[in-house]
Amino acid sequence: MTIPTPHISANNKDLIAETILLPGDPLRAKFIADNFLEDVVQFNAVRNMFGFTGTYNGKRISVMGTGMGMPSIGIYSYELINFYGVKNLIRVGSCGALQPELKLYDIVIGMSASTNSNYLHQYNLPGTFAPTASFSLLEKAVKVARDLGVRYHVGNILSSDTFYDDDKEAWKRWAKMGVLAVEMEAAALYANAARASVNALTILTVSDSLVTHEETTAEERQTAFTNMMKIALEL
Ligand code: HPA
Repeated sequence: MTIPTPHISANNKDLIAETILLPGDPLRAKFIADNFLEDVVQFNAVRNMFGFTGTYNGKRISVMGTGMGMPSIGIYSYELINFYGVKNLIRVGSCGALQPELKLYDIVIGMSASTNSNYLHQYNLPGTFAPTASFSLLEKAVKVARDLGVRYHVGNILSSDTFYDDDKEAWKRWAKMGVLAVEMEAAALYANAARASVNALTILTVSDSLVTHEETTAEERQTAFTNMMKIALEL
């Protein structure tokens, strides 16, 4: 395997840290680098999918956008893991609540990720694979969330291929199975990590509710985002 890859222009493995935060939005990655990291170096701008490496409390950490959806995070996480040797991948994103007890801005930690995607068919398994978070990252994230005293939920999330689903009731069938919230990337991230024996976790903030039809505004999301970042950066 050779670097640079088709989608990441870093020409040296050492430009990317072993631990990386993965927001969907590349400008969010820039915001995180600008506001939370020190001694920042940009390692990618291909397709404007910005990636940066810096330090947080003296420890090296990277942050890069993934784009939306499983094909997109699938590509970036595959290259980070298999070409650049990244070992800990932590997605930070937003989700839609599928349960009434999830309030706007609550934190959701994805213990597992169910999916309506065909992404997992590539492994040609003789059954159904259960994409699962790294227990060590999960355990640490729960501890930090508890210590911060924020509202958080841990459980199964849905990684959906559709944001605008033609079947307006489909989410209710996942909700009946206890699935907490819907997003669009975790299952692919967990599968890529599992395939390569590395660690992955997804931390989300509730940005809208399919149950109550409430939505957050961009400014309001900032506070919840800061809590999520506090958790992710402590890992
Ligand atoms: N659906 C899918 N992904 C999301 C949602 C949603 O309602 N909200 C935030 N990410």
